[in-house]
Amino acid sequence: MKIGIGSDHGGYELKEELKKYMIEKGIEVVDFGTNDLSSVDYPDYAKLVAEAVINKEVERGVVICGTGIGISIAANKIKGIRCALCSDTYSARMSMEHNNANMIALGGRVLGVDLAKEILNAYLSANFEGGRHLRRIEKISAIEQSML
Ligand code: RB5
Repeated sequence: MKIGIGSDHGGYELKEELKKYMIEKGIEVVDFGTNDLSSVDYPDYAKLVAEAVINKEVERGVVICGTGIGISIAANKIKGIRCALCSDTYSARMSMEHNNANMIALGGRVLGVDLAKEILNAYLSANFEGGRHLRRIEKISAIEQSML
């Protein structure tokens, strides 16, 4: 599996931890920055990771800011992105099983590193169930199309 990861300064430290964790697990990781704790704007990193997901450069994306809120809102502006802000393992699993979320967002100032790893595991090990959930996702896409 190939995962794109990106953060602003508020998510930088957690990004580095999760990047290391995924690499140790044999997951290929593409890091879209940021690369230090200097203040940056989270929409720039949301866009980089989301575009890589849409272009199929990576299979899924993980984005992190202080709360996870701003970066998830920004990622969801990219057509075709379903980015779920997750602070627990149940939501992370369901975001894939029911919502086929192609990205998750995490709060670097909200989560401890161990919980963030568990959330990431729950998301990465889950699979989309399809069926009635596919119909609902298609309705989300229809809303997106209607807003052009
Ligand atoms: C940056 O200070 C902070 O606003 C950002 O990381 C994020 O929490 C926004 O939603």
